[in-house]
Amino acid sequence: MAKITVVGSFVMDNVAKMQKFPEIGETILGESLELFPGGKGVNQCVSVARLGGDVEMIGMLGKDGNGDVFRQILKDENIKSEYVFSCDKPTAVAQVQINADGQNRICVIPSANYEFGFDELEKIDERLKTTKLLILQLEMRLDVTKEIIRRAHSYGVKILLNPAPAVKLEKEILGIVDYLTPNETELSILTGMSTDTDEEVLQASKRLLSYGVKTVVATLGGRGALAATEDSIEFIKGYKVKAIDTVAAGDSFNGALAVALTEGNPLNEAVKFANAMGALTVTKRGAIPSLHTRKEIEEFLSF
Ligand code: RIB
Repeated sequence: MAKITVVGSFVMDNVAKMQKFPEIGETILGESLELFPGGKGVNQCVSVARLGGDVEMIGMLGKDGNGDVFRQILKDENIKSEYVFSCDKPTAVAQVQINADGQNRICVIPSANYEFGFDELEKIDERLKTTKLLILQLEMRLDVTKEIIRRAHSYGVKILLNPAPAVKLEKEILGIVDYLTPNETELSILTGMSTDTDEEVLQASKRLLSYGVKTVVATLGGRGALAATEDSIEFIKGYKVKAIDTVAAGDSFNGALAVALTEGNPLNEAVKFANAMGALTVTKRGAIPSLHTRKEIEEFLSF
């Protein structure tokens, strides 16, 4: 029985590095094109594993070379993967652009991730009952993801939903989420409110609490995060680092948050730990290659 279970995506990232993003209709010359394994689901899962968490990955891969890369990663990281299924569609891929400031733009082609359907859900149903914390994102089929959330909630499993890529979600779903971790853009899409200032982030987070979300952790990039519950609201400062590539920073934040919470840490301490993990992630290139270990985070925090 894994304490933390991730049901989520695998994506092979095609990463183009450039000085600035091209405008519509503009052609630019870039600096490099590289392949890095990523995908929000597996990024979050590997983050948990590297921080010493007991974690299982559930998802769908193609029967192709990219799928084999991910199968090997799961093996190397000692991640339980009995319920990583295979299908005839290719493993998902993404086009990722990184500019000189390390900012990213990403387009994911879901392929195999969208082949995880209700048949697979039935197969994992018993397993869902045994986990402590279930982590989900929105890179798989939305109807299936919502049903997983409903079932997990009915089994008393705590749910951490990273609402990315963002879509508007019904209050029925938001109301049964224990931890919701939107970034500013996702927070704005979820609430229909502007989130340009800290005060607006605060108001939008309160709106989510009013829908029944138990805890909102709004990530604010390098500025840190806002942690809000019915009883307390706190801005927790981020760490200043030189950003090379911001891909997977949100994912590693989520993985670290999950680990710290399941270890019984108070929310503000868990967010502090997650801020450190997110900060270190932006200092390295690629998604999975940029995920740090517990030792590295602890060294970083001890300075
Ligand atoms: O969150 C970063 C991830 O989003 C990338 O690895 C890319 O695959 C997309 O899923």
